[in-house]
Amino acid sequence: MTVQIDHALEEIRRFRPSPEFAAQAVAEERLYEEAAADRLGFWADQARSLLTWEKPFTQTLDWTNPPFAKWFADGELNVAVNCLDRHVAAGLGERVAIHWEGEPGDSRSITYAELTDEVKRAANTLEGLGVKQGDRVAIYLPMIPEAVVSMLAVARIGAIHSVVFGGFSADSLASRIDDAEASVVITADGGYRKGRVFPLKPVVDEALEKAEGGTVRNVLVVKRGENEVAWNADRDLWWHESVATASAEHDAQAFDAENPLFILYTSGTTGKPKGILHTSGGYLTQAAFTHKNVFDLHAERDVYWCTADVGWITGHSYVVYGPLANGATQVLYEGTPDTPHPGRWWEIVEKYGVTILYTAPTAIRSFMKLGRQIPHAFNLRTLRLLGSVGEPINPEAWIWYRHVIGGGSIPVVDTWWQTETGAIMISALPGVTDLKPGSAQVAVPGISVDILDDDGNHVEGEGGGLLTITEPWPSMLRGIWGDPERFKETYWEKFGDKYFAGDGARRDEDGDIWLLGRVDDVMNVSGHRLSTAEIESSLVAHPWTAEAAVVGAADETTGQAVVAFVILKASQADQVTDVSAAADELRKHVATQIGAIARPRQVFIVNELPKTRSGKIMRRLLRDLAEGRQVGDTTTLADTSVMTAITAQVQ
Ligand code: PRX
Repeated sequence: MTVQIDHALEEIRRFRPSPEFAAQAVAEERLYEEAAADRLGFWADQARSLLTWEKPFTQTLDWTNPPFAKWFADGELNVAVNCLDRHVAAGLGERVAIHWEGEPGDSRSITYAELTDEVKRAANTLEGLGVKQGDRVAIYLPMIPEAVVSMLAVARIGAIHSVVFGGFSADSLASRIDDAEASVVITADGGYRKGRVFPLKPVVDEALEKAEGGTVRNVLVVKRGENEVAWNADRDLWWHESVATASAEHDAQAFDAENPLFILYTSGTTGKPKGILHTSGGYLTQAAFTHKNVFDLHAERDVYWCTADVGWITGHSYVVYGPLANGATQVLYEGTPDTPHPGRWWEIVEKYGVTILYTAPTAIRSFMKLGRQIPHAFNLRTLRLLGSVGEPINPEAWIWYRHVIGGGSIPVVDTWWQTETGAIMISALPGVTDLKPGSAQVAVPGISVDILDDDGNHVEGEGGGLLTITEPWPSMLRGIWGDPERFKETYWEKFGDKYFAGDGARRDEDGDIWLLGRVDDVMNVSGHRLSTAEIESSLVAHPWTAEAAVVGAADETTGQAVVAFVILKASQADQVTDVSAAADELRKHVATQIGAIARPRQVFIVNELPKTRSGKIMRRLLRDLAEGRQVGDTTTLADTSVMTAITAQVQ
């Protein structure tokens, strides 16, 4: 029913930018025209006007060896200098870069001058530990200023960071450390979440026992949680003893535009996460360009807040690199939205006078459930622009966001992009585009997308097809760490020189793009990407499990939820008398192996799984079941009675 209402309303709801907003907007219609007339010239102009180059580039794009792109390749710059030193040199040293709010209520405001000093100290410390250009540093930190400092310090010395989200397990951390062959890990004793200290250093200790490479020489530890930690004096250093006492003089060297900046692991269709590689000049150009134009940034007066954790790409591009390259003032919050009370976010908006808020639909939907009285207990009138990212935002949530949080008349931008794209690719431009709830709308200037059928033919209209990016873009991934073949195979084999995004999409009669979800076995839970294969292999690694199938089932709050169907080994089945305890044990097992975000909402113990004659599991049928629908066509099953049996067991 809701779907039908949404659909009916889709057709009528359009929101023109208000004349007042349009009059002051950063973005202008002419950006589309300029980019259409000369795409590469357009990006070269952006790179020159938004960034400071130590050595100017003469070549914009080298696409002679697709899919390996080089942008601005003969130019040189230092990413950290672009985010820090140049603002201080321009007289903005006293501007607040970060208003940090700890979950327990402690806070710190850090100016650009202070942040620059801290990054220089950390850069000196890392160099003192022998970290050089190209070396990998793993970062496993809570949302504290040191996370931003660490990333920029690594960037400053031309090394490569690999940030691992603090919610990932020791196993996940170990495999990421091994894959990247990290030589240093930066962590904290612990951080605050839901009113408690969650330990991080002990997870690092465990991960380093599990890591097979033995590549880590040092662990740099920020004191935050004050929890007890074990200490290995040959390896571990406290941040407050090393960074705090290091020199704040550090001459930054300029590096090639294509110098790798970071690796960020994300889930793919197989069990092994992919290390997505991003480089410097092109990445920073597009992060800065989109941050400025999509969020209508007026750096001198805005207070911007992106609620993403730095462990995800949104935190990389829209907490660290985009906002800091643009000299923005932003809020960084350590904890969860509902600690110590459900109005915590809105209290923060009021406290700092936040003007731009960027968050995920899943958060908006959980606030909708709690009701408008919670945000309305606070003064939200400073807000003037709202953004959404991570999954499709249903029109109802879009409207609620605009009305209840935004007061009814401010722009909401729905931004489509991916870890791989590095920066926003599809979004309205506030002040320019008429907004349409539920649609991510149009490619940003300089980006070319198309919707194709399986054979690569352009498709129009309602049916939709596969979203592709038809021209290389500055912040595109440069590869998968250590696996060029997988890079080609995953993204470029399907359509040749066009990038296959893995999302379904359709274009409506106005030319606006609607995202239809993943077309592969990747799930989207609360805006986080999870792979069905990775969770299946975790379940199968449990001694009780014979076979497992995982599906992403629609969930009102989290978008999708993980639902698993598990066959127990015959040898174990007799011992497992309590099915619900067994299911709980398996849910816990996945959380321990991968991380709490991967914990299945439900595990059903079944006797069989639906398979085709060739042995392929028909997840579509399991999804029907998990979503409480009539089970669809079963005629291609090897044994058509299986679904009846499974349905009976599940109920
Ligand atoms: O399916 C799309 C969905 O999230 C996927 C990318 O996930 P990740 O790499 O973790 O990056 C998330 C934050 C950029 C996409 O393939 N997605 C992201 N944004 C949207 C979206 N789906 C619909 N609308 C969006 N605005």
